[in-house]
Amino acid sequence: MTDSTTEPIANSTDTTAPREVRLASRPVGWPTHDDFVVVESDLPELAEGQLLVRNVVMSVDPYMRGRMSAAKSYAPPYEVGEAMTGGAVGVVEASRADGFAVGDHVLHGFGWREVALVDAKGARVVDVTVAPASAYLGVLGMTGLTAYVGLTRIAQTKPGDVVFVSGAAGAVGSAVGQIAKALGASRVIGSAGSAEKVRHVVEDLGFDVAFNYKDGPVSKQLREAAPDGIDVYFDNVGGETLEAAIGALERHGRIVACGSIAGYNATEPVPGPRNMFMVVTKRLRMQGFIVFDHFDRLGAFLAEVAPRVADGTIGYRETIVDGIERAPEAFLALFSGENVGKMLVRVGPEP
Ligand SMILES: NC(=O)c1ccc[n+]([C@@H]2O[C@H](COP(=O)([O-])OP(=O)(O)OC[C@H]3O[C@@H](n4cnc5c(N)ncnc54)[C@H](OP(=O)(O)O)[C@@H]3O)[C@@H](O)[C@H]2O)c1
Repeated sequence: MTDSTTEPIANSTDTTAPREVRLASRPVGWPTHDDFVVVESDLPELAEGQLLVRNVVMSVDPYMRGRMSAAKSYAPPYEVGEAMTGGAVGVVEASRADGFAVGDHVLHGFGWREVALVDAKGARVVDVTVAPASAYLGVLGMTGLTAYVGLTRIAQTKPGDVVFVSGAAGAVGSAVGQIAKALGASRVIGSAGSAEKVRHVVEDLGFDVAFNYKDGPVSKQLREAAPDGIDVYFDNVGGETLEAAIGALERHGRIVACGSIAGYNATEPVPGPRNMFMVVTKRLRMQGFIVFDHFDRLGAFLAEVAPRVADGTIGYRETIVDGIERAPEAFLALFSGENVGKMLVRVGPEP
């Protein structure tokens, strides 16, 4: 696994059948490699309104764990024996849709495969002269928008707020800390799972303070990091960290319920925070959201965040795994925290 955007990959003008990753079985608890199978796929005929896209880079995301289960959720379950789906950027090889030309880079929802047949209605051309293809899956894509919507629309972050975010070195969390600063937060605190991640978010991304949640009780570490309390908690993990944040929130504090990765592989319902009554006594507001409901904010997000990414005031890291056959490995590594920033799979070379 590499942590770089610049590592060269072999130049392959591939004439072999393209491969895709299918769900082999539904995991119970922690998913394993056996839950995936990599197979060659047949190239279907291109219909009117469709694009043939050779993927360059694809996203693996924690929410995909939920889609591997049969349980009803906001995104439909993957079907056993069928190719998985998810965000990807690729190059149009053939087009039967207006507005899409051969050679265009497009963002679409058919990752987990080398070549995709894409309905043009679900694709958007992206400008890879403005930012690399991978950025449209991370800091300028779904995870960046998640951070922006959570802070602006859900938390209604104001100048002077003290903001705490868990999963701080991940794709969403690293954007949260930096966007919070741009919105005028007076202090940004992060928690992450290693000393190197703690160093990274403070020294490279400008968080005021961070701690390793594995080093000791989160409530104690958070009290030390935020002696005067917090106004906003951006929750990516749930569990012990959520309970600690409820304890640290000031009156009228806001909790952005974005994710709960600490419980995604649990086989039993996870116990809730023991201090929920503080939501009443401190007049807290806790609101969940799903980014897919907030695409109306994409324009505002890009207008505010893209220039800061371009001039380097908002930085981002990517952890890139090479090869479609390693996509399951990249996905599984999200749950052991092997990524810094956005976890991505380089599926093929830039043409
Ligand atoms: N609501 C929405 O619309 C929406 C959209 C996108 C993402 N999300 C959620 O946002 C969260 C972050 O997603 P992301 O794409 O940015 O992933 P990410 O943070 O880049 O990667 C996942 C990270 O979670 C941490 N982690 C894994 N197991 C953990 C545990 N038991 N306790 C605490 N941390 C753990 C790991 O970092 P450490 O080394 O720090 O443990 C890992 O690097 C997830 O909960 C995801 O489901 C929600």
